[in-house]
Amino acid sequence: MTLRRRVTLMSALVVGATLVLASVTCYFVMRGELRGQIDDSLREQGHQVARIPPQRIDPTFPRRVPQPQRRTGASQAYVQFVSADGTVRRPPGSTEPRLPVTAATRAIARSSSTRHALQDTHADGAHLRMLTVGVPGRGAVQLARSLTSVDRALSRLRIVLVLLTVVGTAFAALLARILSRPVAAPTEHELAVSQGALADSLAAQRQLVADASHELRTPVTSVRTNAEMLRDASYVPDDERRLIAGEVVEQAEELTALIGDLIDLARGDVPDPAVEDVRLDALAYESVQRARRHAPGLDFRLDAEPCVVEGAPERLARAINNLLDNAAKHSPDGAAVEVTLRAGVLTARDHGPGIDPDDLPHVFDRFHRGANARGRPGSGLGLAIVRQVAEAHGGSVALEAAPGGGTLARLTLPAERVETVTA
Ligand SMILES: Nc1ncnc2c1ncn2[C@@H]1O[C@H](COP(=O)(O)OP(=O)(O)OP(=O)(O)O)[C@@H](O)[C@H]1O
Ligand SMILES: [Mg+2]
Repeated sequence: MTLRRRVTLMSALVVGATLVLASVTCYFVMRGELRGQIDDSLREQGHQVARIPPQRIDPTFPRRVPQPQRRTGASQAYVQFVSADGTVRRPPGSTEPRLPVTAATRAIARSSSTRHALQDTHADGAHLRMLTVGVPGRGAVQLARSLTSVDRALSRLRIVLVLLTVVGTAFAALLARILSRPVAAPTEHELAVSQGALADSLAAQRQLVADASHELRTPVTSVRTNAEMLRDASYVPDDERRLIAGEVVEQAEELTALIGDLIDLARGDVPDPAVEDVRLDALAYESVQRARRHAPGLDFRLDAEPCVVEGAPERLARAINNLLDNAAKHSPDGAAVEVTLRAGVLTARDHGPGIDPDDLPHVFDRFHRGANARGRPGSGLGLAIVRQVAEAHGGSVALEAAPGGGTLARLTLPAERVETVTA
């Protein structure tokens, strides 16, 4: 038998058995409750009979015997008197069928005691619950109530419970069958693709770790050399000591920036949980302000139309900052840097030397630094981060030679134009 069949069968068995148990319990509790009410009312009338002095019971017919009450909706009531010699007397004008007189009834009638017995019986095809109470020295009184409505209610309950059990069990089996449906095994091609993607991702991670270790080694070595020099030199003139300490601080700052970049890159394509509607024009404005503070000798110009993009504000700001840092880094003193934002496309155009065409295809590679970057601070991670942020937001980034010299960086994001309200 297959595992799926076994799971289906087991689920159906467990649910079925539970439903049967619950139904049987429910049925007998209800049966006891309904029949109990009839027994209680018969016993109550039986007690009344037992309290009547025997001499006051008329042997022709005990008129004083309380008749079972006939309330609207109550079950049909029967009564008859059985004398000690077995003669049966019934209320005058009684149309109800005669109650059966058994040897046990006669024994109670003869017993001269107030013994009583409850039993199920039939009279003229009707199912009855009957109480026989002894009247000492006179005989016995038989009181009965019809069980027809109780039987009808119980038979309806039986149908409902059986249906519930059958439907519940079938439903459980169906559910188990659906849930245990075997997941389609991946095809060879799908397996190969996912293995290939895994191998690529592992290789990329290894490459990042190797490149990062290499890049980190240089500033760490410089910091160490400078620190050792300060420690070991017996005498270092004050201004030289300040120079070396200044270098250590600068290298430590570079290290901090590099580590920040590496952390950003190592996030890969993991989506940022703090995604919100970001006003791209506001971010561009803040980035330009920041760039002006960092490079006060340059002329940054901003022309941005209001637009909103769904994304992580810190990451988007980082991408714009990296583009503006590059423009600033390669601009001659006093030159202009024009920043525009139109229909989700942010451009940053500088008037620097531009990028060597041989370098252009590699500028987005991690740790790639062009020949024009030699002697300038940086680790070659800025554009790799911009690309990662752009792609994570469903956009792209490109660099090109600007007409008339310089570089034009273009960051495209799925932004939507917003109307600003003017007061
Ligand atoms: N505006 C630009 N003008 C000229 N060359 C540029 C410009 N932007 C980028 N490049 C070239 O692309 C290379 C890669 O840029 P990227 O921003 O990734 O690294 P970086 O600026 O050298 O270092 P980092 O950004 O990590 O501080 C640079 O080294 C540089 O050669
Ligand atoms: Mg850069």
